[in-house]
Amino acid sequence: MIAIQDEQQAEQAPAKLDPRELPHRYDAFAKVTGRAKYAAEFPTKDVAYGYIVQADIPSASITSIDDSAASRAAGVYNIITPFNTPKIVVTGNVNVLQNTDVVFSGQPIAVVVARSLVEAEQAAKLLRITYKAKPADVDFAKRFGAARPPHRGGASLRGNPEASLAKAVAVIEETYSTPLQNHNPMEPHATIATWTSGTDGEKLSVYDATQGITDVQRTLARAFSIPPESVHVQCPYTGGGFGCKGYVWSHTILAALAAKVAQRPVKVVLGREQMFGPVGSRPNTRQHIKLAAAADGKLLLTQHDTTCYTSLISDWVEGTTGQTELLYDTESLSTTSKVVPLNLGMGTWMRAPGEATGSVALEMALDELAEKLNMDPIQLRLANYAEKDPRQGRPWSSKNLRKCYTEGAERFGWFKRNAKPGQNREGNWLIGHGMATANYGAGRSPSNALVRFLPNGRVFVGIGTQDLGTGTYTIVAQTAADTLFMDPTLVDVKLGDTTLPPSGGSGGSTTAASVCPAVYDAALQAKLKLAQLAIADARSPLHGAGAEDLETKDGKLYLKSNPGKSEAITALIARNGNTPVEGVAKSQLPSDRDTFTSHSWGAIFAEVAVDAHTHMVQVRRMVGSYDIGTLINQKTGINQLSGGIVWGISMALYEAALIDPTYGRTANENFAEYHVPVNADVHQIDVTCLNIPDYKFNPLGARGIGEIGITGAAAAVANAIYNATGKRVRDLPITLDKLMQA
Ligand code: MOS
Repeated sequence: MIAIQDEQQAEQAPAKLDPRELPHRYDAFAKVTGRAKYAAEFPTKDVAYGYIVQADIPSASITSIDDSAASRAAGVYNIITPFNTPKIVVTGNVNVLQNTDVVFSGQPIAVVVARSLVEAEQAAKLLRITYKAKPADVDFAKRFGAARPPHRGGASLRGNPEASLAKAVAVIEETYSTPLQNHNPMEPHATIATWTSGTDGEKLSVYDATQGITDVQRTLARAFSIPPESVHVQCPYTGGGFGCKGYVWSHTILAALAAKVAQRPVKVVLGREQMFGPVGSRPNTRQHIKLAAAADGKLLLTQHDTTCYTSLISDWVEGTTGQTELLYDTESLSTTSKVVPLNLGMGTWMRAPGEATGSVALEMALDELAEKLNMDPIQLRLANYAEKDPRQGRPWSSKNLRKCYTEGAERFGWFKRNAKPGQNREGNWLIGHGMATANYGAGRSPSNALVRFLPNGRVFVGIGTQDLGTGTYTIVAQTAADTLFMDPTLVDVKLGDTTLPPSGGSGGSTTAASVCPAVYDAALQAKLKLAQLAIADARSPLHGAGAEDLETKDGKLYLKSNPGKSEAITALIARNGNTPVEGVAKSQLPSDRDTFTSHSWGAIFAEVAVDAHTHMVQVRRMVGSYDIGTLINQKTGINQLSGGIVWGISMALYEAALIDPTYGRTANENFAEYHVPVNADVHQIDVTCLNIPDYKFNPLGARGIGEIGITGAAAAVANAIYNATGKRVRDLPITLDKLMQA
């Protein structure tokens, strides 16, 4: 059972938690039997297929699009271009054919609507597009000198860097870099849009693969100048998001636009190659770090200057320096961020945006400093443990990072490690061990929810959130069941529909922390309604009881002071109109939330084996120990953390989008050449959570876990490779060629 406590009770000792008792995935059966429908899979009568045509040069103005051959092709219904498109409101940084500018290769410039996808794609090849080409910048290295501060934010300063540096006995100064990456959830982006018109005006109904149904609803309403209530968005299942489905991109709006023009439903599904560029990227970064320390390891100066690309569409900064400001207690701090504007698709959130990439540089730099100080890397981190949030001196709502280091080190066998690089050999294999700190912020957004006792004895929970595949259904059912003391298999959950009470977007690891308190509140409200019904009902054995004396358990309402006195909830409902009893709640954010900082923590360890001749790297083991507050569900929680770690391995060894330096197109826009780990690359992953509730943060004591797993993981692997080989590769991914040359 989850321990759910009122915020007033936050100081009480945590209840005993046994995650082994918790239920399995709510949606497992629907998923393994193929009944779970993703956006593109909803049968839609008379649906046509929209194919997005993309620019093939990075900077231009389109002078003409000759569609005469294409429009005569088999099955073609409509061809929409900047020269014939209806005017709509441009929402955010999208390319919706409202002008003829091309600012990156791969930018949407037309939509072909046809009877089938194949016909649409074939017709697209017949379009004759002429451009007036303009000069383009697509090469980060070449344009590095043109970096400028971003339009917003970008720098912080604490203490006196020069004075602190002057006192140091050890200084390291290095540059680390991470490549451009693209999210590739198994389910690519997809939208089905249908317009209907009735007496109350035009209505738009959309199935969309998204991390935020409410945002899709609002954005489409704005684009087509209709009220949000006229837009119905459904997304019962999302096949992975990782940030790319957190933005409403061009194709979603173009699907609705195409449906309007074609006067029939239109389905747009992005091909795998269309996932590289037009729907956001994790910008590449070049990070300069200077660490200066006293002999005891105390950090005197932490300096972190970072540069990433940004598109010409928006000034998007990969916030690598954010965690540098709070992770360690340093005497002085200086951070800056700069951007290099390039003719590439927009940067966007990608799993732990900033923390994933920033931790690569910071945690590798600490490893280098530890060696220079002849100190154990964990000891160095402990010497700089931030007891309070170093930014404003606020207390943490809960922080048990010390325990993560000791617990993780114990399980990994860290203290048996040979700190001297290149010393451990098993035949041809060089063995190495490395570690890093993991961290990610904890946030929550206000969320509504409804809980209904149904006449048939089941309970219905409705909430306008979405399940990315992370386990939202499961924890919603679990929270309702635990609050009502009932069997979770009797709870039905509906998500992913804008007719439900609205909730926040599923991003920034905020979903569980936002949604569960709302479900908890709604369940309490429903319970109270039920109690009031019984109290007022002369035929109920609980008639006249005090509301605070009534509790529900296993389908009954009973008297806490005299548990023998009870009534079946179904009987009570049957006598009272046989209609559902409903509780509705709006979860409030705590009023004292500005007095503390909530953050999640972890320690991540890696063991690698590097072939001494070929330099092939195998990550043999990863051990992660996390302080994420209450672990609501063992199965889905550990699963997310493990997935994050796999992505860390990917960052360290494999993953990079390669930009063609002439045409600015991603050269490896497919899974054959954009490498991600397969099962053979992932060996043992051992994850545990301390499971110490953070009741100051929310009544469940649970912080989000979607993103922390990737943080620190790539640095731990890189540090282990150094320990194995004595070769420090500071440019990720660490591929064979780089190791050979190092
Ligand atoms: Mo996340 S990168 O906020 O989906």
